[in-house]
Amino acid sequence: MIMEFCTLTKLFHNPLVSALALLCIATTSLNPATASKRCDFPAIFNFGASNADTGGLAASFPFAQPKSPNGDTFFHRPAGRFCDGRLIIDFMAQSFGLPFLSPYLDSMGSNFSRGANFASAGSTIRLQQAAGQFRTSPFSLGLQYQQFERFKPNAKFIRGQGGVFAALMPKKEYFDEALYTFDIGQNDLTVGFLGNMTLQQVNASVPDIVSNFTSNIKNIYNLGARSFWIHNTGPIGCLPLILTNFESAERDMYGCAKAYNEVANSFNQNLKKALAHLRKDLPTAAITYVDIYSVKYSLFRDPKKYGFELPHVACCGYGGKYNFSNSVSCGGTTKVNDNDIFVGSCERPSVRVIWDGIHYTEAANKVVYDQISSGAFTDPPIPLNMACRRK
Ligand SMILES: *[C@@H]1O[C@H](CO)[C@@H](O)[C@H](O)[C@H]1NC(C)=O
Ligand SMILES: *[C@@H]1O[C@H](CO)[C@@H](O)[C@H](O)[C@H]1NC(C)=O
Ligand SMILES: *[C@@H]1O[C@H](CO)[C@@H](O)[C@H](O)[C@H]1NC(C)=O
Ligand SMILES: *[C@@H]1O[C@H](CO)[C@@H](O)[C@H](O)[C@H]1NC(C)=O
Ligand SMILES: *[C@@H]1O[C@H](CO)[C@@H](O)[C@H](O)[C@H]1NC(C)=O
Repeated sequence: MIMEFCTLTKLFHNPLVSALALLCIATTSLNPATASKRCDFPAIFNFGASNADTGGLAASFPFAQPKSPNGDTFFHRPAGRFCDGRLIIDFMAQSFGLPFLSPYLDSMGSNFSRGANFASAGSTIRLQQAAGQFRTSPFSLGLQYQQFERFKPNAKFIRGQGGVFAALMPKKEYFDEALYTFDIGQNDLTVGFLGNMTLQQVNASVPDIVSNFTSNIKNIYNLGARSFWIHNTGPIGCLPLILTNFESAERDMYGCAKAYNEVANSFNQNLKKALAHLRKDLPTAAITYVDIYSVKYSLFRDPKKYGFELPHVACCGYGGKYNFSNSVSCGGTTKVNDNDIFVGSCERPSVRVIWDGIHYTEAANKVVYDQISSGAFTDPPIPLNMACRRK
């Protein structure tokens, strides 16, 4: 079993391998019987915002759905994702041999037998008003929790009834054994930044946002969830959205807006601490904190290493230094000197980090997925396929 785990780590073609080799030794000496065991997650329940939305917003608000070229790289059609292809949550599902997650909000063709996705683009942890052009979604984390609270007994009822719908619902035991994944918080910061809050005010709201986050996680635990995989928030100050709206903000040595990333870091430090407390409160849960910030930031610090170029420039956007505009988004059309200009894809999204100014390309998502799933960026340092509760 240990062999299996160590072999697996060799798949990752990066310098993390040495760190992982250490991890093999550490886990072996800890508890060889359990430490080497892969988790057999039968389902995934995901909560979050656009970074993990597989079509929830599109189903609810057709006017806001991502249009082509979104989806072109992998799905060859818009697939409810703000991306040219797959999201990190898609790579996770594939790694467990599970189907892509159906959005809870989609009443057409949804198959929840292996989980459900409650994430919705524009979602915040605390319900927020829109900030100018930046729209938020009404499906806050608290509402996503309520949807899950409804989902669980209804799924049981529908399975019990038999008929065509029964097989589209998860089995009862899947709820305890599933992986519960989270990627949310960035929009809480964005709303503050693009609204009229100062950086200090946004930063001061962070402890409240994080405490709301962990309260919701606890509520989901109380419904039977035991294995949690929780992403921290990415380097928001590296996104064309922030770089364009705050042109004069001081940049760091990798071209990112420093103060904005500091607030993201403050969110992450708060979250990491809060999850450490939660781990003590809920000893029967496996709670994994995932430092997705560091992995995403490395794409801006060292793009060539991963085969990327122009990391701060949107592939599918319009105008300015960062190919980003507040008034027209990817797949939209804008009028310039009486001519209609379609906002399409750059030529090679596979060598680009940022898709539309806010979201990452499929290529970047794949790199991020590979790195976070290895266990080198998680607390505790456990790979994705071992991040389950030990019985
Ligand atoms: C629902 O998904 C499961 C798991 O992928 C699959 O085996 C099953 O055939 C699907 N059901 C339908 C009706 O598509
Ligand atoms: C989170 O904040 C919202 C306000 O946006 C509040 O209604 C909700 O009760 C809070 N949830 C938790 C679990 O603290
Ligand atoms: C910020 O304040 C300005 C001036 O008071 C106002 O015009 C603008 O609508 C405000 N923006 C937001 C997002 O509240
Ligand atoms: C943000 O707030 C934290 C306290 O939660 C403080 O330690 C940190 O210095 C603040 N950072 C900024 C950039 O204001
Ligand atoms: C900017 O976006 C346009 C679509 O509006 C795209 O054609 C172009 O290639 C992008 N520019 C860069 C440098 O990626």
